[in-house]
Parts: sequence; structure tokens; C-alpha cells
Amino acid sequence: GAPVEVDISKLEPGQLIRVEWRGKPVWVVYRTPKMLEQMKAHEDKLRDPNSDEPQQLDSAKNAYRSKRPEIFVAVGICTHLGCSPTFLQGGFGEKVEGTQDGFFCPCHGSKFDMAGRVFQAVPAPLNLEIPPYTFIDETTILVG
Ligand code: FES
Repeated sequence: GAPVEVDISKLEPGQLIRVEWRGKPVWVVYRTPKMLEQMKAHEDKLRDPNSDEPQQLDSAKNAYRSKRPEIFVAVGICTHLGCSPTFLQGGFGEKVEGTQDGFFCPCHGSKFDMAGRVFQAVPAPLNLEIPPYTFIDETTILVG
């Protein structure tokens, strides 16, 4: 599959856009400062908070699992059996804790935070996959 260009010039804080890359849904999310704050508060409840698992790309091995803190790029496929998790803003807390934003897989209830990091005690074994990508310029991402 060819790399896919994503224009993020109109992406607003809190918004998620989907593109397709190699037949997979890829999400690009503009995380708000609040979302970034929340991520630090629940690290003890995550299965692999630092993305140490060997199948994670090096570019996923930082606190935000991204090249820019506010811009999150991930493959939108649950690492359990491949369903597509739902992006929940403000409502995720009812399923986990506080008023967190995150991703909830409707198939078997796996929960992921705003960096796609999987919470403990759910079926999904791994954090969401981060695809290879680069910033071509300030507002254009090349996925692949
Ligand atoms: Fe997502 Fe099973 S496919 S929890």
C-alpha cells in the first residue's frame, strides 16, 4: 500500500479524523491539554504504560506515543480480535474512571486511553498499533 497524506490544517482540538492506510483505519486525533493531563494520571492502571512490548515501534516509546504531543496517530483496530474501538469524549469515565476520554471497544469491552494504551483487566493484550508516519510540514502527515 502507498503512503497516505493527511491534511490536518482543519483538525480542531478534541477532534478525530479517520483515513485508510493499507486497508486499515488510521486515526488522527488532536488531543487537548486536558486529554494530555489525564494520560499522566492513570499510568498505574495501564498494562504497558511505556510501550515496552517488543512489537511497538520506537516512535511509540515516549510518554505520548507520538511525534508531537497534541497529535496522536494510531491504527484504529482493537488488538484483541480486530473490532474498531469507539472514541468517547467525557463519557469514557463511566466505563473506567474519572471523566476520562479514550477509546472503548464494543466487542468485548477493552479500554484504551488517549495514547491508545490499553488498561489492565480487559481482553486486548497490547496497546494500539502506531503506524509509521512523518510530518511533511506543519499541517500535513504522511502515513506509511
Ligand atoms: Fe476489542 Fe475484543 S475485539 S475487546
